[in-house]
Amino acid sequence: MPALVLLGAQWGDEGKGKATDLLGGSVDYVVRYQGGNNAGHTVVVGDQKYALHLLPSGILSPGCTPVIGNGVVVDPSVLLSELSGLNERGVDTSKLLISGNAHIITPYNVTVDKVTERFLGKRKIGTTGRGIGPTYADKINRVGIRVQDLYDESILLQKVEAALDVKNQLLTKLYNRRAIAADQVVEELLGYAEQIKPYVTDTVLVLNQALEDDKVVLFEGGQGTLLDIDHGTYPFVTSSNPTAGGACTGSGVGPTKISRVIGILKAYTTRVGAGPFPTELFDADGEALRRIGGERGVTTGRDRRCGWFDAVIARYATRVNGLTDFFLTKLDVLTGWEQIPVCVAYEIDGKRVEELPYSQSDFHHAKPVYETLPGWSEDITKAKSFSDLPKNAQNYVKALEEMSGAPISAIGVGPGRDETIEINSFL
Ligand code: GDP
Ligand code: IMO
Ligand code: MG
Repeated sequence: MPALVLLGAQWGDEGKGKATDLLGGSVDYVVRYQGGNNAGHTVVVGDQKYALHLLPSGILSPGCTPVIGNGVVVDPSVLLSELSGLNERGVDTSKLLISGNAHIITPYNVTVDKVTERFLGKRKIGTTGRGIGPTYADKINRVGIRVQDLYDESILLQKVEAALDVKNQLLTKLYNRRAIAADQVVEELLGYAEQIKPYVTDTVLVLNQALEDDKVVLFEGGQGTLLDIDHGTYPFVTSSNPTAGGACTGSGVGPTKISRVIGILKAYTTRVGAGPFPTELFDADGEALRRIGGERGVTTGRDRRCGWFDAVIARYATRVNGLTDFFLTKLDVLTGWEQIPVCVAYEIDGKRVEELPYSQSDFHHAKPVYETLPGWSEDITKAKSFSDLPKNAQNYVKALEEMSGAPISAIGVGPGRDETIEINSFL
């Protein structure tokens, strides 16, 4: 009963979509367990490029059942348009399963996300504006709307009214906006209900039975470890738990069932939105990483902030997720640099610090301590095994592995499915 978790070890956009898709051919279920359509996963299959936001990347593998777990927040309009977009391109999406306990991103949650960010001004988080935070806030506040509520009209109306009670006060009196009418929201949501119904089921039961039947289940994280609401760079985080524990709460599969936790790790670092980022580059190297790595957000189209690899963060990801393996991505992007700096520790108030400081103030003024590794100039995109890599690239990978605390079991050398070096099998 192998259950694998695959998650982002940095600030998101590490290449989780590609890694999931790569394994998708050999797994039976791919499960999203948190987040929503704030995710942006690019998957390249042959000459086809797919951008997925809400749907698990396993949807592109014909034998695989994609599952949206209870921990996910679902915008029904986005769900339906993503499904029809894939159907138009000939992808069969009929196997999709959606937890009846997943929460719905309502139109008012999207409105509240946008007005809150505007109101925060300079202190804004730089959210994706998709209503993620307000939907999770409603869930914790016990005024959320769940997928199953779409199938009981009178309950749905009562719940939407309860959710709008306070929000309309805020919208009209604080944010100077128009009040939102509960019956209009209900009408819109009911408009999606029948189309979504065939997918809705008790995913907890399905997944646990699948594991009992020795099926292979892969949990696909959205976002990344440093964007985790508990373990990330709070408050500059997303509102869910992308870290490994989230795979259990967000799916109803217990921790004793998880056999492998794979951290997806970019060979350098990127971040979208506001918040501290010790190795961020503001020079030509940062610009070059952005250009060569195509570092532009899949969801919001924003340029990603770019910087060198940060081993302190990688070690932290190993610890908080209990990582068993890393999948190192985008090594090919570093081809051509004569020397590649790698952050091995921080300097905080004149002191060398080896581990991520728990204090937010300390992290905000942590300065990277760099070690410089020799680069390589040979094209590595055709490499099929570790020994195909130039010596300096091999040494770069080995150095990262040693600093990061878990074996690097695969290396991405290009965006395509087959542009991957497999070192240890994941299954
Ligand atoms: P995700 O959010 O973690 O799924 O990552 P994104 O899809 O947002 O961003 C990763 C980008 O890198 C995508 O455009 C991928 O196609 C691309 N990518 C993934 N792995 C590799 C790799 O090994 N090399 C290169 N050059 N690109 C990659
Ligand atoms: P994938 O799955 C990178 C960032 C936003 C913002 C913060 C909070 O593609 O790796 P939210 O809308 O979630 O409330 O925004 O989190 N963020 C991401 N950054 N990749 C993502 O997803 C992200 N999802 C959210 O930019 O800083
Ligand atoms: Mg992404």
